Amino acid sequence: MKGIILAGGSGTRLYPSTIALCKQLLPIYDKPMIYYPLSVLMLAQIREILLISTPKDTPRFKEIFGNGDWLGIKLDYCIQEKPEGLAQGLSLAESFVQNDEIALILGDNIFYGQGFTPMLESAKDNAQKGFATLFTYRVNEPQHFGVAEIDTEGNVLSLEEKPLEPKSHYIATGLYFYDNQAVEIAKNLAPSPRGEYEITDVNIAYLKMGKLKAQMLGRGFAWLDTGTHDSLIDAGTFVQTIELRQGYKIACLEEIAYHNGWISEAQLLDRVDKLSKSGYGAYLKNLLDSKEPSFRGYYR
Ligand code: DAU
Repeated sequence: MKGIILAGGSGTRLYPSTIALCKQLLPIYDKPMIYYPLSVLMLAQIREILLISTPKDTPRFKEIFGNGDWLGIKLDYCIQEKPEGLAQGLSLAESFVQNDEIALILGDNIFYGQGFTPMLESAKDNAQKGFATLFTYRVNEPQHFGVAEIDTEGNVLSLEEKPLEPKSHYIATGLYFYDNQAVEIAKNLAPSPRGEYEITDVNIAYLKMGKLKAQMLGRGFAWLDTGTHDSLIDAGTFVQTIELRQGYKIACLEEIAYHNGWISEAQLLDRVDKLSKSGYGAYLKNLLDSKEPSFRGYYR
């Protein structure tokens, strides 16, 4: 399975902050936003990842992540000339994806909750069987999202992008697992009335084929939005609260890579050296020094 992170867009809703730095590189507490979606793909054991961004920002992502060696992953980059919609990411990724299944995640989505990894595994399984999987979540104001009408058995009955009169409070988060057909579906889409190639239209195509599954992220789960200045602060505060309380970091990429067995102790030490003056660096050092099982990769 291949992973795609969509980290483009114009970021105009966060001006003037995003004049200085693209949205996905703004900090969420102690690390850039992009770390969070990247950590999701790594937790799903996906090692071949394409990062799609704007002509202006792609060089910056390349500087930060390089070829992904330091995380034991293989990172490729692709430029989206204009933000013409999320589904365009699938078409742009065609030569990267080849015949594989796909996990697509938006570069501004944050997921946090117990039992997430088994959910990712089962979505991967679905993709291998020809199904698409949406991760759905209840929100108070569904009209700003892709809205899913879901029956009591968890079947998706309908999907609508930002409807004025939402049929439910359950929305599709920005994480999608697909079989290989998604690329062809995306390539054949017509733009929506707002002029974008909509990911919701890809999902509707799977729904019509009877090949769409919904994985509900329940009450104990946090899915955080980072679309406004306030929600950015909320997300940062959320991460700060958990990290300070527990002493575990959320979306620590080196930790995931190390516990996945993708980077060596020497590679981790190299990161400790580079980040030694920060709490993040101290956390990495503790991964090497601690005798506590949880820091050694148990109870995950
Ligand atoms: O976050 C979940 C929602 O994401 C879903 O519920 C919606 O169904 C889905 O359409 C999407 O809605 P948004 O309004 O949040 O999408 P937005 O245009 O804000 O784009 C999301 C991210 O993707 C953002 O960080 C920028 C990036 N992006 C966006 C577009 C349109 C790209 O990289 N390329 C693009 O062409």
